[in-house]
Amino acid sequence: MIRIAVDAAQPAPQAIADAAAIIRRGGLVAFPTETVYGLGADALDDAAVRRIFTAKGRPSYNPIIAHVASVEHAQSLVTTWPEWAQRLADAFWPGPLTLVLPRAPHVPLSLTAGRDTVAVRMPAHPVALALIRAANRPIAAPSANRFTEVSPTTADHVERGLGSRVEMILDGGPTNVGIESTVVDLSASPPVLLRPGTLSRLALEGVLGVPLVDPAPAAHADEARAAPGMIDRHYAPNARVQMVASANLATQLLAEVGAGRRVGGIVLNLPFVRDVYLVQMPSDAAGYARELYAALHAVDDAGCEVVCIEMPPTSDAWAGVNDRLRRAAHPA
Ligand code: TXA
Ligand code: MG
Repeated sequence: MIRIAVDAAQPAPQAIADAAAIIRRGGLVAFPTETVYGLGADALDDAAVRRIFTAKGRPSYNPIIAHVASVEHAQSLVTTWPEWAQRLADAFWPGPLTLVLPRAPHVPLSLTAGRDTVAVRMPAHPVALALIRAANRPIAAPSANRFTEVSPTTADHVERGLGSRVEMILDGGPTNVGIESTVVDLSASPPVLLRPGTLSRLALEGVLGVPLVDPAPAAHADEARAAPGMIDRHYAPNARVQMVASANLATQLLAEVGAGRRVGGIVLNLPFVRDVYLVQMPSDAAGYARELYAALHAVDDAGCEVVCIEMPPTSDAWAGVNDRLRRAAHPA
């Protein structure tokens, strides 16, 4: 495995060319996007896409996003480009928004997990865009972590999680947005908000001109498979996650310490409790999202058996953060 540091704003052309060459011959390259690091392969190469599933340990029923460098590039992967897609792309691309649309026939079924739709996104990161352009093909990329583990926001996270399962890691420093893109399904009408991210629901609805609907909750595992993006236990650290209201935080931490456990706290307000590995989070949703996965990784690195996470606010701005916390806290 080769790890190359690149300037996030102006990556060296040689590093990008080397990474693109790996993609073009069917290999795997981890690269930064503005949200999280992606585990990339040629989206149009069936064998390369299968290598992603193997490296991640990802079940084959969970489809992967194709990353593109322009609207035209996205249009080449779908059979229809509705007005809604154009409006959302105009407003939010490049950026942390993924659109699900009817799949063009040449898009491999391995990428879409057998579905007749494909997810497309134009990322707002110079390294990702340069790589897609140099490879001259769409790049399939899930988050560059093993299945169900915490997503990577640094090259160190990628290296620890995937190590030698990837040929190259482009290290562009920590990512800026911090949690995965918002996913909107436009193959249905009305559009469905499959996965909340950092974009405000109100802003999305304002651009669409119609309300977004929520996916029907999956009652059991088979249904979760039918509704990708809804796998419950996901983004989970090794430490057992407890969501705790601010008013109960100090009491809960004391109880865990008292029980002799190695305890972590991911908090908004610093409690006066000793012997706890504490990570204080920013009080704004964007800052919190940016630092969330690094905090979960840090708690694991500190060897915590349990982590108490102070519940953040529940307003629209926090929807993406609360979605990831709910999944991280879901029992194994
Ligand atoms: O920010 C992101 O989206 C990151 C970076 C690398 O771009 N990628 C990412 O990929 O989070 P992944 O594989 O971890 O999540 C992709 C999500 C999953 O929830 C998947 O089920 C959903 O997109 N998805 C992909 N294709 C789909 C499709 N055809 N229909 C419905 N959902 C789809
Ligand atoms: Mg993921």
